Amino acid sequence: MSNPTLTAEQLATELTALAQEALAHIQAAPDLTQLEQARQHFTGKKSRLVELSKGLGQLDADMRKTQGAVLHQYREQLNAALQQRQSDLKQAALTAQLAAEAIDVTLPSRGQQAGSLHPVTQTLERISGFFTRAGFTVEQGPEVEDDYHNFSALNIPESHPARAMHDTFYFDAHHLLRTHTSSVQIRTLEQKSVPLRIICPGRVYRCDSDQTHSPMFHQVEGLVVAERTSFAELKGLIIQFLNVFFEKELTVRFRPSYFPFTEPSAEVDIMDERGRWLEVLGCGMVHPNVLTQCGIDATQYTGFAFGLGVERFAMLRYGVTDLRQFFQNDIRFLRQFSPL
Ligand code: DAH
Repeated sequence: MSNPTLTAEQLATELTALAQEALAHIQAAPDLTQLEQARQHFTGKKSRLVELSKGLGQLDADMRKTQGAVLHQYREQLNAALQQRQSDLKQAALTAQLAAEAIDVTLPSRGQQAGSLHPVTQTLERISGFFTRAGFTVEQGPEVEDDYHNFSALNIPESHPARAMHDTFYFDAHHLLRTHTSSVQIRTLEQKSVPLRIICPGRVYRCDSDQTHSPMFHQVEGLVVAERTSFAELKGLIIQFLNVFFEKELTVRFRPSYFPFTEPSAEVDIMDERGRWLEVLGCGMVHPNVLTQCGIDATQYTGFAFGLGVERFAMLRYGVTDLRQFFQNDIRFLRQFSPL
């Protein structure tokens, strides 16, 4: 119980000491639980504050008034300190939570590695890209062909030795897997009117397999038919294409050759770093027999054509030495051609 004889001075002294102790506890409370314990200890039912407040009733009016005011002030002081500490602790807890849950948006993602186009597709797009920019349109034809479009119409009659050289996969006497995209020259000339500038990319098939041959591979055929074409124009186009494709000024050679569907014909070689000639494509002026066969007046129109192997270009560009690697689908091989 409070001491009714306590003087105002004694009360003030006691409260000053008590306040010091209480404020120290409140300010040092490390969390809300311990702060609540301090609150109960210093302002709860069993606290000295409540005890002193109860004792006020036994004092005379004057004393009650002065001591009541002192106690009130003390209680206000504690409440203010409690409130302050509570909001500090809540703020600290929030700050800690925000820090713990922070998301670093600059961290590299754990997303999956994106795939990339097959090196043969990349090469095909590179080749097509050059020619479409040069005004060529893209034409396609069937992979299952008849011997007329694959051979006869291209000035390769039955029993012509060139047929035997093509290692053809036959379905029956007249149907086969096309051995070259030159067949699309015929199919397009049958359907479209001249003049035209086309490229025909696609799969071709030959019964052949070794380090530089696979039974299926890709070719890009080119054909220009117009009233005035020339071997000079063909040469200029091919040299420009090769320099753009390989991204350097190449030494290029047009070596006389033979293809039944062109006259004159040439094979094109480029020189490698060690001074060796590498054959890269075949070309020539379209044989008048081919134009006539497709109903085009060969006295009015001339044409030039070329054909190249896409895998061969991919091998030269990427330094691949075994063509079969393109078709084994070994992910370690393919990843090397990812543009990233
Ligand atoms: N068709 C030939 C081959 O597969 C390539 C070729 C050579 C196509 C000369 C042409 C050409 O258009 O003019 O070997």
